[in-house]
Amino acid sequence: MKSAIYPGSFDPLTFGHMDIIRRSADIFDELIVSVLNNKEKTPLFSVEERVKILKEATRDLPNVKVESFSGLLIEYAKSKNIHVAIRGLRAITDFEYELQIAQTNHKLSGGRLDTMFLTTSLEYAYLSSSSVKEIASFNGDISQCVPDFVIPLIYEKFGIRRE
Ligand code: PNS
Repeated sequence: MKSAIYPGSFDPLTFGHMDIIRRSADIFDELIVSVLNNKEKTPLFSVEERVKILKEATRDLPNVKVESFSGLLIEYAKSKNIHVAIRGLRAITDFEYELQIAQTNHKLSGGRLDTMFLTTSLEYAYLSSSSVKEIASFNGDISQCVPDFVIPLIYEKFGIRRE
């Protein structure tokens, strides 16, 4: 069985992430979407909230599991005996950062963890979790950015009630 991990912050989950999740779930027998528990960042949603949102958003994808992890991705992947990490690339600006992480992970894992990049579908290439947060914080329209059920959860975090 071929499995892969799609690690990320998913704070919040966007249509860009969903695009990568659906396409990788088509390629692999099993996809584990895993939320990084990063104690250095102050996220909008707690890890538990993000896991819950991802589970709801992927309930129609039977080969997708949602988990969280702390520490190094290579250790987490090793504990699951998984050798592929998935990352989405939106533009060349993502590339340098992603290349460095992918190469570090490959080296640190002794060649056991490879990173597979999927290019984000063009319609979502502009999307980022940080821009979604900024737009929502100013009461802007995020309906083209995140799944419907996530929209009110985001506004709620900014204390915004929309009619
Ligand atoms: O959605 P993000 O924030 O761009 O995801 C980044 C993520 C979670 C893939 C990356 O920060 C990560 O894997 N962090 C875990 C720590 C680690 O293994 N770092 C790689 C060595 S530099």
